[in-house]
Amino acid sequence: MSDRRDIDQVTGAETTGHVWDDDIKELNKPLPRWWLLTFYACILWAVGYWIAYPAWPTLTGYTKGTLGYSQRQVVAREVAAASEAQGGLRAQIASLPLADILKNPDLSRFADAAGRAAFAENCAPCHGRGAQGASGYPNLRDDDWLWGGKPEDILQTLRYGIRSEHKQTRVSQMPRFGLDNLLDDKQIFDVAEYVLSISGGTIAKDAAARGALIFKEQCAVCHGDDGKGKLEQGAPNLTDQIWLYGNTIDAIVTSIRTGRGGVMPAWEGRLDPVTLKALAVYVHSLGGGQ
Ligand code: HEC
Ligand code: HEC
Repeated sequence: MSDRRDIDQVTGAETTGHVWDDDIKELNKPLPRWWLLTFYACILWAVGYWIAYPAWPTLTGYTKGTLGYSQRQVVAREVAAASEAQGGLRAQIASLPLADILKNPDLSRFADAAGRAAFAENCAPCHGRGAQGASGYPNLRDDDWLWGGKPEDILQTLRYGIRSEHKQTRVSQMPRFGLDNLLDDKQIFDVAEYVLSISGGTIAKDAAARGALIFKEQCAVCHGDDGKGKLEQGAPNLTDQIWLYGNTIDAIVTSIRTGRGGVMPAWEGRLDPVTLKALAVYVHSLGGGQ
């Protein structure tokens, strides 16, 4: 090739000297330097990466890379670290009394979170997502307790249940005053009116006065002389505005006729001891804990 530089007439750019069909010339336009350098750097980076990290498939597996990195290992290490951290907390929850767990912010936070998860799974179907309860299923957020709202009381209720099949279940059965003919319909109506009167409902005065006598004889043993209930009997306070089965005259008459007898399952054996304690902490923390 001669050293004569051939300049393209139209663009004013130098050509490479390559010509096609007599007048199609190739312009000499090299790639910008920065672009080339970046390109070479990328190639170098890729080669380095292939050497350092797992990269190419082989017949029997893949090239492992000199750093020995593997996402599987990273995950395994993280899982092991997390469960070791949890294991420590779980072991402490298992061994400490509830009062000490509640005093320790780390433990009670962990228990609360674990309890919340277990509640959604096991308890929400009856007590509601937010533990607000429903007819026949007590609200666990208020400070009105059938069997007691201290952490240990709640744990005992959870473990053994109420009228459950567990040997140590909490038991007490209100008599079926109507079904078993212990009181006649008129007496049941009268005492229901009395129950309404002590909870501030509008009432038939004469009936309530007759009912007061029946209440003293038949009901006070469990619900107390003042109708405020007794925890050791699981007998609700009848003077507050909180009703398990409803405050209409019909609902109250039905309660007295049938004795109700709601069943709370026992959870011991179905949930592990740490989860049970966590649930007690969670329920206690809902607002009404004593
Ligand atoms: C099958 C329905 C059902 C399920 C599931 C259930 N409960 Fe209950 N629970 C009840 C009923 C019914 C009562 C009230 C029993 C009664 O009438 O005395 C009750 C009562 C309670 C009480 C006593 C409240 C008080 O005022 O003393 C607590 C605490 C409690 N449940 C917590 C739980 C927790 C925590 C779970 C989940 C592990 C759970 N329950 C699952 C039905 C259920
Ligand atoms: C042996 C103890 C016992 C006796 C006696 C008893 N009760 Fe009860 N009563 C209970 C228990 C326990 C409950 C809760 C039942 C349940 O949780 O399913 C209850 C529930 C009730 C309820 C429902 C309250 C609500 O929140 O919905 C009413 C109303 C009631 N009793 C009225 C009476 C009256 C009136 C008498 C007397 C005629 C009486 N009880 C006698 C133990 C007793």
